Amino acid sequence: MDVITSVTEMQLWSREARKAGRVIACVPTMGFLHDGHLALMREGKRRGDVLVVTIFVNPTQFGIGEDFDQYPRDLEGDKKLTLQVGTDIIFAPPVAEMYPHGYQTFVTVDKVTQALCGLSRPTHFQGVTTVVAKLFNIIQPHVAVFGEKDYQQLVVIRRMVKDLNFNIEIIGYPIVREKDGLAMSSRNKYLNEEERKAALCLWDSLNRAERLYHKGERSAPRLIQEMDNRINAEKLAEVDYIRICNAETLVDSETIDGNAVIALAVRFGKTRLIDNRSLK
Ligand code: PAJ
Repeated sequence: MDVITSVTEMQLWSREARKAGRVIACVPTMGFLHDGHLALMREGKRRGDVLVVTIFVNPTQFGIGEDFDQYPRDLEGDKKLTLQVGTDIIFAPPVAEMYPHGYQTFVTVDKVTQALCGLSRPTHFQGVTTVVAKLFNIIQPHVAVFGEKDYQQLVVIRRMVKDLNFNIEIIGYPIVREKDGLAMSSRNKYLNEEERKAALCLWDSLNRAERLYHKGERSAPRLIQEMDNRINAEKLAEVDYIRICNAETLVDSETIDGNAVIALAVRFGKTRLIDNRSLK
């Protein structure tokens, strides 16, 4: 496994791999890898002949006052983990390689970035689409794997790929959870013991809502109220949003119609966690 840090070198490697007829799979990450990331990589390995994992804490997707500086980083640990799943290349460029002096181009996806996380993080998705478009141009993958954990991100990237005619297959991979149900996330590291316990209300509230849905409840406001009650029962939890919306357009649903997703974001102290559940 090689670690490439230069854009030119990455482009050269990809050109050679394509010339040799290899199917390139790519898994973009910000590092500090956990089992959720590794599951995406195994899927990438299944889908392609060669796997490129990117590790880049992307400054443009963090808002002012967000955790860019504190975001956990461990390139040495990440190298060991990526090796375990048969990664061929880690692409880990420095910030100045991706955003050199004078950089001024951004990719914006319109409607689907505005709801949910877009409300409390208004510049976030522009940063995500910009960096992912750049990574796609540099790596030229045939297929890229993203987690359903960041459900809105997946919808936004699918939209960008379609709208900008990237010839790349986007695979969504199911949420990987801790044994007790908490969705794995690099940000779980920020939680203290009490917050970690309280954070289970996300999983619990999603389960409750799904059970009610399967019993025949179709009113989005009623399910949201149930979830809100459960989460607010935790003193340490502060709801950012709980929404039930169309799984593709992310427009709020009033009555749930068979292609909906519940998405939520909840703060525990300084840590903001997201989770979701499809209702099909
Ligand atoms: P990061 O948060 O590191 O996540 C990298 C990928 O892993 C994303 O596709 C995310 O959805 C997926 N992932 C994270 N936790 C997961 C879990 N518990 N189960 C399944 N998949 C999970 O998302 C980003 O980085 C960045 O925004 C990025 C796309 C790399 C652009 O900078």
